[in-house]
Amino acid sequence: MGRLHEQEGMETTEDRLQDLRKRKTQAQMGGGQGRIDAQHNKGKMTARERLEAFLDEGTFQEIDALVEHRCNDFGMDKNVIPGDGVVCGYGTIEGRTVYCYAQDFTVYGGSLGEMHGLKICKLLDMALKTGAPVVGMNDSGGARIQEGVASLGSYAEIFFRNVRASGIIPQISIIMGPCAGGAVYSPAITDFVVMVDQTAHMFITGPEVIKTVTNEEVSFEELGGANTHASRSGVTHFTAQSDEDALDLVRDLLGHLPSNNLERTPSRNTGKPSVDEDTLRALVPSDPSKPYDVMTAIEGIVDYGAFLEVQADFAQNIVCGFARLNGNSVGIVANQPKVLAGCLDIDASVKAARFVRFCDAFNIPLVTLVDVPGFLPGASQEWGGIIRHGAKLLYAYAEATVPKLTVILRKAYGGAYDVMSSKHIRGDYNIAWPTAQLAVMGADGAVQIIHRRRIKNAANPEQERARLVEDYTESFATPYKAASLGYLDDVIDPTETRDRLIRALGHLMDKEETRPARKHGNIPL
Ligand code: HXC
Repeated sequence: MGRLHEQEGMETTEDRLQDLRKRKTQAQMGGGQGRIDAQHNKGKMTARERLEAFLDEGTFQEIDALVEHRCNDFGMDKNVIPGDGVVCGYGTIEGRTVYCYAQDFTVYGGSLGEMHGLKICKLLDMALKTGAPVVGMNDSGGARIQEGVASLGSYAEIFFRNVRASGIIPQISIIMGPCAGGAVYSPAITDFVVMVDQTAHMFITGPEVIKTVTNEEVSFEELGGANTHASRSGVTHFTAQSDEDALDLVRDLLGHLPSNNLERTPSRNTGKPSVDEDTLRALVPSDPSKPYDVMTAIEGIVDYGAFLEVQADFAQNIVCGFARLNGNSVGIVANQPKVLAGCLDIDASVKAARFVRFCDAFNIPLVTLVDVPGFLPGASQEWGGIIRHGAKLLYAYAEATVPKLTVILRKAYGGAYDVMSSKHIRGDYNIAWPTAQLAVMGADGAVQIIHRRRIKNAANPEQERARLVEDYTESFATPYKAASLGYLDDVIDPTETRDRLIRALGHLMDKEETRPARKHGNIPL
């Protein structure tokens, strides 16, 4: 098909309107019915169907439907489809403006040529100017091979804009098909990545290249499917079961976020927690070695059904997610005692650090629930760089100026006590349950070190050890030493937690805290 504007003979207004309708219809049909059917047969919606399903009904306003590529190589001049393989526009989600684009796999495999890329750039510029989130739906063969470096140039223009908009407007990527090579870096820079199970794949180099270079055999799905990126690499924040599921999930996610860094998330109250007070009070076992599910604590504190977990399958020793307290959006970070005893390791530190920084950038107060025995011991952790990765979380908390509320449920040992939003790195409201133990380490370890000789020389070493552990536990493994020093603002009955946090938020929302002016800090990346 050739370029429509080369046609002659448009004389009357009706001719011109007919021509316009023809162009619009052509744009609507993308790569044609055959390719639309093929898309459906793969269980995927088309780009337009995705946008319609995503936005509030009837609000989608397309822009740049008539953009065409300007490549004359490899016969591309004979193959022009208006829109150039990406549908761009804006609409609303629950009444708030959202900019979005959806790559159209039916047109040149959704590949990104110069003009396709520039359409996305225009959208990002508009979103940044107006302070509204951007949602990108990726389904693409990557750089349009026929367009060569012009395609790479457009990619880089997008990356640049993703970085420029970072921390100003929320950016969300939904991967609904292939996303390979350097194309992965736009989603990687955005705040959240959602992948659709089975149909979405992300990788830098595909299985064939890996086989050639390293002789490793790995399937497409294992290499870059949704489950891999949800549980192993941590690239994706959410996994969806279908296109519809992904779109619902992102609508929900947007409900937890402000439109930009100068706004607050609209409040929405869903009522009292789903977990009752007795369950909350009995949750933490007195035996420090016994695990429990911190999710129960979260559900016992936040508004009914409001918790949206982020990276649920990655670094499960820390739980991060959005919730609401009396309708107001908060970010929750909680050590998870039932996985690795809630230790901080490399993945948990990086996961939580990125979440803390997102919340801080977007005015979302942080609520931290602490039960952490320390950093995970082990040579692989040391060699993997737990020192610099753990420092990321410390840095992120220290840098954050949003309201920071901390509840210590049980253990807060060693350096991890400092890291987890302690008073010393400017926690605004720090409270503890009576089961809390704030110490350099657990009683067993502490007694072993400071009383080694005494235990060795005792008539009954085992009895003496037990006595010393009990002594230490009574004096130091409690919240009261920290409370006496003012490191904790209070020690409370667990059932009071929700009310205390709501009250604290009530006045802390207006807090003002600044840091010295600088170009930017140097977070240990
Ligand atoms: C041009 C492309 C294309 C591309 C697909 N198509 N990818 N056209 N440039 N990158 C076209 C195909 O020629 C085909 O056209 C149509 O899209 C559908 O593709 P199929 O192969 O029939 O679909 P499918 O079997 O579903 O396979 C999808 C695919 C495969 C896995 C994405 O097309 C593929 O491997 N494409 C190449 C991927 C790639 O190497 N891209 C470059 C990556 S590097 P016809 O008309 O024949 O139906 C990169 C760098 C980015 O992206 C750098 C940024 C800095």
